[in-house]
Amino acid sequence: MKVEGKHYRTIWEAGSGGFAIEIIDQRYLPHDFVIERLITLDNFCSAISDMHVRGAPLIGITAAYGIYIAALEIGNNPHFDDALLNASHSICKTRPTAVNLEWAVNKMLQSIHDEFSVDKKLSALLNTARRLADEDIANCISIGNHGFKIIEEISKSKFGQQVNILTHCNAGWLATVDYGTATAPIYKAFDNGIPIHIWVDETRPRNQGARLTAWELNSHGIPHTVIVDNAGGHLMQHGMVDMVIVGCDRATRQGDVANKIGTYLKALAAKDCDIPFYVALPTSTIDLNLTDGIAEIPIEQRNGDEVRYVEGLSDGKIREVLIPPESSPAANYGFDVTPARLITGLITEKGICNPCEEEIVKLFQSNK
Ligand code: MRU
Repeated sequence: MKVEGKHYRTIWEAGSGGFAIEIIDQRYLPHDFVIERLITLDNFCSAISDMHVRGAPLIGITAAYGIYIAALEIGNNPHFDDALLNASHSICKTRPTAVNLEWAVNKMLQSIHDEFSVDKKLSALLNTARRLADEDIANCISIGNHGFKIIEEISKSKFGQQVNILTHCNAGWLATVDYGTATAPIYKAFDNGIPIHIWVDETRPRNQGARLTAWELNSHGIPHTVIVDNAGGHLMQHGMVDMVIVGCDRATRQGDVANKIGTYLKALAAKDCDIPFYVALPTSTIDLNLTDGIAEIPIEQRNGDEVRYVEGLSDGKIREVLIPPESSPAANYGFDVTPARLITGLITEKGICNPCEEEIVKLFQSNK
């Protein structure tokens, strides 16, 4: 997508000075646009765990390039494979919920199964990381095409009146390599002249909605309004939301979905108000090994200071302020699970399906 007229991906190979990867350091958005250069495995691990990059698909691609950098660091070591396996363990530990991380690392390791020389392993790893990044964009575009049809239908049923869509967290281009998952249908609808308006949940504690989704929509000129996380139910009860679209960090074969904390409550409200609730995700986010999301999906718990402090711009400087009493402890659950029964459909790159085992497995078997 474009930032002040220039096209950016969220992650790319730096042009000069030895092999390096550059990322948009998302901790500084929306007030500063900062590019960070990653050159060691440690750089990659902190970029993921400290959320310089975040969002399931982007975490996966960052991990893939991290594995390639780790392989360059290992170099001509007789224990190359063992050392790379250790590096994979380190990177897989950075964030537990988004399955794209493990998925991408496995793809990277599989790509060198049949290679014996270090040179060949290195070139297979680089090609795989590049391919996964390009496929991520193609998947997002495809999700956009499928999801667009749903928005188009709603628009027709409202005789062309504005379609109001609520989204939670950031599942936009900043959470992928480009284009986004939940926002892909939104961009396509807007670009095709459908009048839309987006309710953006601020998404405490890290405020990915208020900071990132709002920044993206603003840059693209899409009408939107930032709301507090608890406002969605009220808006739904008053007919002010036509559909909900969210992203996903891990879905099970039965269609339960883990996404940013608070997603479940939006799904409950949507069900109560009879509002369609869609989840947009590439199939790489579906973990076929899991069935019951609530029992089986690992939920990340992060530092309580993310809840206790809020960061924002004040007098031209980014500052943090403490909200609760200094001595009050805070709990910080990063994700929750929305059971399949509350979900209208899964929008994937292979098409839209009902959140149930039969349709999900069929989707994986299709060659679309
Ligand atoms: O903690 P984050 O910012 O990585 O959480 C991101 C989300 O929950 C997104 O909605 C999800 O990863 C889908 S991204 C296309």
